[in-house]
Amino acid sequence: MLAVQGLSVRYGPIQAVRELSLEVRPGEIVALIGANGAGKTSAVKAIAGLLPHGGSVTLSGKPLPRRAERALRAGLALVPEGRGILGQMTVAENLRMGGYARRDRASLPAAIEEQMRRFPILGERRDRLAGLLSGGEQQMLAIARALLSAPRLLVLDEPSLGLAPIMAARIFALVEELRAGGMAILLVEQKARQVLKIADRAYVLETGSLRASGTGAELAAQGLLSDAFMAAGAG
Ligand SMILES: Nc1ncnc2c1ncn2[C@@H]1O[C@H](COP(=O)(O)OP(=O)(O)OP(=O)(O)O)[C@@H](O)[C@H]1O
Ligand SMILES: [Mg+2]
Repeated sequence: MLAVQGLSVRYGPIQAVRELSLEVRPGEIVALIGANGAGKTSAVKAIAGLLPHGGSVTLSGKPLPRRAERALRAGLALVPEGRGILGQMTVAENLRMGGYARRDRASLPAAIEEQMRRFPILGERRDRLAGLLSGGEQQMLAIARALLSAPRLLVLDEPSLGLAPIMAARIFALVEELRAGGMAILLVEQKARQVLKIADRAYVLETGSLRASGTGAELAAQGLLSDAFMAAGAG
């Protein structure tokens, strides 16, 4: 489904991602893990068409357009680090924004209602400014908004960041629920141990390069999930 080969991202003299190759198959949760500054966000932004990059990115065998809006229309939705919701707009307005890339615009109102059933709190707060929601509620809004573009692949950049453990657990449970519904998911996380409980496989980034990949058990056996390795982000 998603195939990334030789992905490279640089910011002037800084090479943030170096020759990264990874794959997400249909119905998989694949984790991209690594310490602070490892290059996770740079990698997923490049994949989503938000950063110039070298290498190739294909979705279901077709090159993914290198512009974010077109990548979204091609079926890849990114929930960015920090969520990217519009705080001065209402919950309902944020959700409507998520629908602009849908092929089938006529079904948007029904799809918004469906998301409000999935996340009842968003229905209750539909006319509130999104900026007044709690962090966990904002994360749900960001995910609901991404789902409204009817993606085939959902990319989540540290969705649990800054959330209380119980709320982080709800987000991880939701990701599992989406997989059960057939969605492919690329999940960026620093909380390696926690995310490997739900991920089918993971890729470990270290200063821009792929250090290892495999199942949680395989990575644990290599000592790659230790607190020392994950430094700031052990979960
Ligand atoms: N806009 C930018 N300009 C210059 N350097 C940048 C920029 N964004 C990121 N970097 C650098 O690129 C490297 C990778 O950063 P990136 O944000 O991709 O890492 P990350 O794995 O997402 O980290 P975190 O876990 O803190 O979110 C870091 O060295 C960072 O300082
Ligand atoms: Mg990041």
